[in-house]
Amino acid sequence: MVSINLNFDWKYSEKFEEQMLDNNFDDKEFEIVHIPHANKIIPYNNFDEEIYQFVSCYRKNIFIEKTLQGKAICLIFEGVANAATVYVNGQLAFEHKGGYTAFGGDIAQFVQFGADNIITVKVDSTERDDIPPFGGVVDYLCYGGIYREVYINVFDGVYANTMHITPLDVLDKPKAQVDINFSQNVDNMPIDIKVLDMQNNVIATSQETANGDNFSTVLEIADAKLWDIDNPFLYTVVATFGKESVSERFGLRECRFKKKGFFLNGKRIKIRGLNRHQSYPYVGYAMPKSAQESDAEFLKDTLGLNLVRTSHYPNSKHFMNKCDEIGLMVFTEIPGWQFISKKQEWRDVCLQHTQEMISQYYNHPSIILWGVRINESGDDKELYTQTNKIAHSMDKTRQTGGVRCFPMSKLLEDVYTYNDFSYAGKKTILMPKSFVAGNVPYLITEFNGHMFPTKTFDHEKRRQEHALRYAKVINQAYKKKGISGCIGWCMSDYNTHKDFGSGDKICYHGISDMFRIEKLAASVYKMQQTKNPVLEISSNMEIGDNDGGQVGTIYMFTNCDQVKLYKNGKLVNEFDMAQERKKSEFKFLPFPPVEMLDIIGNQLEYDDKYKFSKRDAKKMKNVLLTIKKSGTIVGIIKKLFSIAGLIIKYRLSIDSVTELFGKYCSSWGQKQVSYRFEGYTNGQKVIETEKGAIYEKKLYVKSDRDSLIEDKTYDVVRVVIKATNQFDNVCPYDNSVVRVKTNGIVDIIGDDTFALIGGQRAVWLKTNGKSGIAQVVIECDGKSQTIKLNVEKK
Ligand code: GAL
Repeated sequence: MVSINLNFDWKYSEKFEEQMLDNNFDDKEFEIVHIPHANKIIPYNNFDEEIYQFVSCYRKNIFIEKTLQGKAICLIFEGVANAATVYVNGQLAFEHKGGYTAFGGDIAQFVQFGADNIITVKVDSTERDDIPPFGGVVDYLCYGGIYREVYINVFDGVYANTMHITPLDVLDKPKAQVDINFSQNVDNMPIDIKVLDMQNNVIATSQETANGDNFSTVLEIADAKLWDIDNPFLYTVVATFGKESVSERFGLRECRFKKKGFFLNGKRIKIRGLNRHQSYPYVGYAMPKSAQESDAEFLKDTLGLNLVRTSHYPNSKHFMNKCDEIGLMVFTEIPGWQFISKKQEWRDVCLQHTQEMISQYYNHPSIILWGVRINESGDDKELYTQTNKIAHSMDKTRQTGGVRCFPMSKLLEDVYTYNDFSYAGKKTILMPKSFVAGNVPYLITEFNGHMFPTKTFDHEKRRQEHALRYAKVINQAYKKKGISGCIGWCMSDYNTHKDFGSGDKICYHGISDMFRIEKLAASVYKMQQTKNPVLEISSNMEIGDNDGGQVGTIYMFTNCDQVKLYKNGKLVNEFDMAQERKKSEFKFLPFPPVEMLDIIGNQLEYDDKYKFSKRDAKKMKNVLLTIKKSGTIVGIIKKLFSIAGLIIKYRLSIDSVTELFGKYCSSWGQKQVSYRFEGYTNGQKVIETEKGAIYEKKLYVKSDRDSLIEDKTYDVVRVVIKATNQFDNVCPYDNSVVRVKTNGIVDIIGDDTFALIGGQRAVWLKTNGKSGIAQVVIECDGKSQTIKLNVEKK
């Protein structure tokens, strides 16, 4: 097979006219664009979503060599939103409905060999009511354009339409079943199959003959290494036949949802996941490989998750490949949102999507469940009997789920997958499984989201509550054995339709913002693993930012063994986290957030005015901490009895208690206090963070990588920009203007001048065909930083 990438230099027009199909049409007024392409660059927020809902035209001239005559020339589009009609030299080649699955076909019959050929694509990015998810309302934007890659595969003679690999008997005698569907019937065709491990060692082979258009064989894998979340071992099958060969990666693993939970390779795992929308600021869905991969790494490596739900559609193959490689499990699902149409065309497209999703994503070991129901749609026995039938007949090993938002729905799938938004900050955390689904395999597929939208620039008390709500629900899911786990709504904030969001076309439901910059809630996930030390304090300890000057209840989000607290450089308390965790209301979590009440420690023992005895210092501390917790002087009344002795002994008045409270707890009317927190693991200091007044503003600039490679298409890199204080904490109320300039070796995606949002923001840079050292200057508030990126063109 020869593969020709077709991502560069398409001609693009925001309108489509029939005359554009003519090979002689003059398209010199068209814009030159590269794929992935957004049909419209949209503002960050506050815009009319109809600005990208139009029919556009993409044209590309390709010279097809004479030598390709007689071969199959398969033109493949990985994803076009939302419908595409493809013409070759003005002749209709094929059409496709739906933006989330690949499509294509052999265009040889339309091609002129040894000559230029024009491919024209009519891209319909309107919200057509014959295509899911459209017909009702949708809480996300579906954007437009040829937003995933395009290529041609040239085959000589018979080739494989698909090669599906099924892991069998994984826990006993692991085997790989290889099923190939050929482009034509074959007759006694020799076929050679090899299985390679990750070091390219051949570990199994078979030589057979194929007849008809399908071939199936089973190969035993000796000394097999399983695909696991900690060790995601991958194998490759290479099948050689006729003049062609095909290769596909797969993994050996058994995934099973049972009544008592989820089991990967026979081992129970509590699913801890997030939902991901594949959208980015400005360009919507149009982001290339490295950005897709970064999201998978963010979820697995930074947040420590074991699963992602690709809500509410199949995601890019780059994202999926990365999930396979890093051991991040995936629940993927057919496109749709709540609405089921009565129109037969719509329903047919829904079935087509089911079939395409399973066929195209079959070999990804990361996928552990097929979602074969439109997210949160009502019961539709006829439609969902069919989607389940398609899934079960195409894939004998994976189970199906279908995401609901109501209890006691008729279960046509194998797993009851339920969006449980019961937690509203009151008593109810999750609905009882027995009430929602009965005694069946059960997974919570969404929670939080719209119940508590939270922005990076909200007050810290709201951000703390946001984080605790995640902890609350995940803790409950950990507590209940019959719940396989829970998947939070959601990874990042996202642009949405007018019917949803905060009025500015953004749904602030993420544990990170649209730039993937974390909110405090991200720490609840991050701290559940031990690979990276985490220590986040939920407050900046700025009394003036809090009601009545009371910082109130503060939480530590840490996976350390011990936290030492220093006040103005002096050690005041040491928290033994194992002990603290026992007291936590989130104690079913591997690492629960812990309330940090005692910020006084032993200081009262050394108070030079009152000279408390050790015992009395302890008593007095209790009084002050009660006041701190209740946030008012009412706290004293509660403690009146225990304090009576102290009042007499130390001649305390309301004023002196207020003075002590000010000195040790609130520092209201006192000189500003700084707090340093040090996290220890196995006796070693692994992390520290400091809170105190800002006396120096710094400009933080960090790019995710320092090199970019333009290969099959352009490459991008994210640069995070923050206004930080002398302790490297973000200045949460800094909205300074940032200017980004480049020396032309890379381009800026979106605006080059913008305000920080709550002290932070990011910008993506993209290659533009040039190579060399890209110099990017970031200026903000009189400060400037230059980053250098090595840009290569392959
Ligand atoms: C759910 C829906 C998600 C998202 C979420 C917001 O009902 O499935 O797509 O809209 O609400 O919380």
